[in-house]
Amino acid sequence: MTTKRMLSAVFAIAEDMTIGDKGGIPWFSPADMSSFRDRTVGHIVVMGRKTWDSLPKKPLDDRHNLVLTRAEGEFNPDPRCAWILDPEMLQRSLSVLDPNEELIPYVIGGGEILNVFWNDIAYVYVTRIKGSPDGDTKFDLLTRLQDPSWYHEHSHASDDPAVMSVEWYWRTAAWMTAWTRRNG
Ligand SMILES: NC(=O)c1ccc[n+]([C@@H]2O[C@H](COP(=O)([O-])OP(=O)(O)OC[C@H]3O[C@@H](n4cnc5c(N)ncnc54)[C@H](OP(=O)(O)O)[C@@H]3O)[C@@H](O)[C@H]2O)c1
Repeated sequence: MTTKRMLSAVFAIAEDMTIGDKGGIPWFSPADMSSFRDRTVGHIVVMGRKTWDSLPKKPLDDRHNLVLTRAEGEFNPDPRCAWILDPEMLQRSLSVLDPNEELIPYVIGGGEILNVFWNDIAYVYVTRIKGSPDGDTKFDLLTRLQDPSWYHEHSHASDDPAVMSVEWYWRTAAWMTAWTRRNG
């Protein structure tokens, strides 16, 4: 029997909770792009099909790309990633790809996928972008983090003028114990 794994998430978000606009990201932050790369290289990135479509270069290199879609059989599967046809399939894919649990599975967005997997996400690495670009894709991080299962682990500043701060939020030990009891 395989053990269900907790997930991490890494994404950037503006002050109005915007994460995307018109299929792209409505800001330019080299520091965020490079810290995203440093964090995820060598690991597993899990994304929604719309985020996959939005990538200028596919797949994200030196990472295992897993893409969630409902479009089973309706399209020509792109061999540059592994397709996940329902959220439950993610755990089976992880156990095949990484049986010794050496890699970190990062949910990287977009908004739909963060919501789908939120209850299994234990570590969040978020870049806070200055301003409110009012994009068409939001993620209600403010409400999510009000849940007492989260605590603020760390934050640091950035030299990038687009960035307010980089923050880490982790689940409490009590949440992890309860999650493991439910899913272990
Ligand atoms: N700021 C950031 O860090 C960041 C990160 C990533 C993305 N983004 C931005 O976010 C936007 C895209 O986000 P989004 O919320 O619109 O889309 P998304 O989460 O990237 O993808 C949504 C798609 O995922 C699939 N899906 C969702 N729930 C599913 C389920 N339960 N089972 C199977 N498949 C499921 C569906 O694909 P099918 O339609 O194929 O069935 C759905 O259309 C873009 O603007 C992108 O640039 C921002």
